Amino acid sequence: MKADDYKRQAAARALDFVEPGMRLGLGTGSTAVHFVDLLGARVRAGLDVVGVPTSHVTRAHAERLGIPLTTLDDMPELDLTVDGADEIAPDLSLIKGGGGALLGEKIVAAASARMLVIADHTKWVALLGHFPLPVEVVPFGVGATRRAVEAAAADAAAPGPAQLRRDKDGHPFVTDGGHFILDAALQRIPRPDVLAARLAAIPGVVEHGLFIGLARIAVIAGPEGIDVIEKSG
Ligand code: A5P
Repeated sequence: MKADDYKRQAAARALDFVEPGMRLGLGTGSTAVHFVDLLGARVRAGLDVVGVPTSHVTRAHAERLGIPLTTLDDMPELDLTVDGADEIAPDLSLIKGGGGALLGEKIVAAASARMLVIADHTKWVALLGHFPLPVEVVPFGVGATRRAVEAAAADAAAPGPAQLRRDKDGHPFVTDGGHFILDAALQRIPRPDVLAARLAAIPGVVEHGLFIGLARIAVIAGPEGIDVIEKSG
């Protein structure tokens, strides 16, 4: 089976956590696309839910499928967010933002009673950091912010270069919020909590892709089957 088949299996299993009447956060990325697709089919079959998309692209997709949508302005508390991840550690801390939607994803996850992360087995890691950490930054002063991000990473025992993300035409990649993204190639992040605090303190950093204490459940699909990991407490 291909990675995409496992992504769809994880998305299908996540539907078991959806109940009628729920207010749902809808994630972004190639795994979340499967969840939104499958949810759309359930909605057309009569399931009553309302969704808050984490990005423009997910909003457009969910709209096409006829999923009722709202915003956090009208519905500031959600029951469940289902989203993908770039890396998932055993304590369910995550790296997200490979698709560039980390800001909306984190705001929506934080507004949700529970976040459920869905992934194929390749996303499960012993330690976060092999995937370059996305850091969303204000365009103004990006050179100085980049140096500060690298210094913060080195201080948190995770040294490595931060590169401005570019689109296929070589222009800086621009997020839904009009910001840039720095991808920090750190290899290993021994203390994600320390790094998160240092990044959050940098002027010019809007948000970073470390999701700590947000995911409560992970559904991981792979050749051995589907694992559901629930965080206690
Ligand atoms: C989007 O910004 C990301 O956080 C995605 O959720 C993450 O990159 C996982 O994407 P895939 O499901 O496409 O691997």
